Amino acid sequence: MIRVLFAGDTHGQTAHVDHLLRVAVREGCPWVFVVGDFGYWEHQHDGRLFLDKVDRRARQHGVRCAFLDGNHDNVALLRRTYQDRDDDGLIVVRDHVQYAPRGHRWTWGSSRLLAAGGAASLDKDLRLAVEQRKTDRAARRALAHRNAGAPRDYAGTLWFPDEELTDDETDRIIAAGGRVDLLLTHDKPRDGAPSFNRKTAEAAYPNQDRIQRIVDALAPAQLIHGHLHHRYTQTLANGTVVDGLTCDPAAGHGEPGYRVEDSWLVVDL
Ligand SMILES: [Fe+2]
Ligand SMILES: [Fe+2]
Repeated sequence: MIRVLFAGDTHGQTAHVDHLLRVAVREGCPWVFVVGDFGYWEHQHDGRLFLDKVDRRARQHGVRCAFLDGNHDNVALLRRTYQDRDDDGLIVVRDHVQYAPRGHRWTWGSSRLLAAGGAASLDKDLRLAVEQRKTDRAARRALAHRNAGAPRDYAGTLWFPDEELTDDETDRIIAAGGRVDLLLTHDKPRDGAPSFNRKTAEAAYPNQDRIQRIVDALAPAQLIHGHLHHRYTQTLANGTVVDGLTCDPAAGHGEPGYRVEDSWLVVDL
């Protein structure tokens, strides 16, 4: 048996990850697993610092930290940068920080786990507009200071083109078949119906449909996800128990009834 502390979105908030690591120690969990929007922003200085700090704090606590990709993680850079795997087949990002890529399966305790990250950003247009403004400003600055070097292009720094699970990835996960006890995703399955949900725009549905297809095909006993920043538990028609987790306090500010205890869930595997 192994106890794992599953956690909702951490968004690069070191203090919150440190809090989760402390809870993991208290609860006897050797792993914290973050279900996306972890804060993989290694294209920025702050993002590199976040990973280094989490790695250091995890080592100090004697706990390992794993994550799957959410829509706000730079998954293209993650895939390009890291390929080495640990004994569970998780990608090693730092000594104590591991990534579970889409479609990855492994066993913890007596449970078969499957990770399927990705989700759609409903503020995509806003993020692209900010990227463009920054790129334009950099170009104007370079023009004013002719020897300042090539202006920086900010494309791919706020919105990540590979954010959604693809149809191909979904097909491959389903075709692989096999037993899955615990499905870990960032997005909710389409049939998930939490009492509070900000992600109701049409653009959110294709990714939710892909998660639903996986749930229908593999019938996991449990599914844990983040993204909605809302804690709820629901049993789907096929019997899968869905647990949605809320997020770090900084992003949770303004969510109705936010409690930090709702950002994690201890599961005996
Ligand atoms: Fe999030
Ligand atoms: Fe998200």
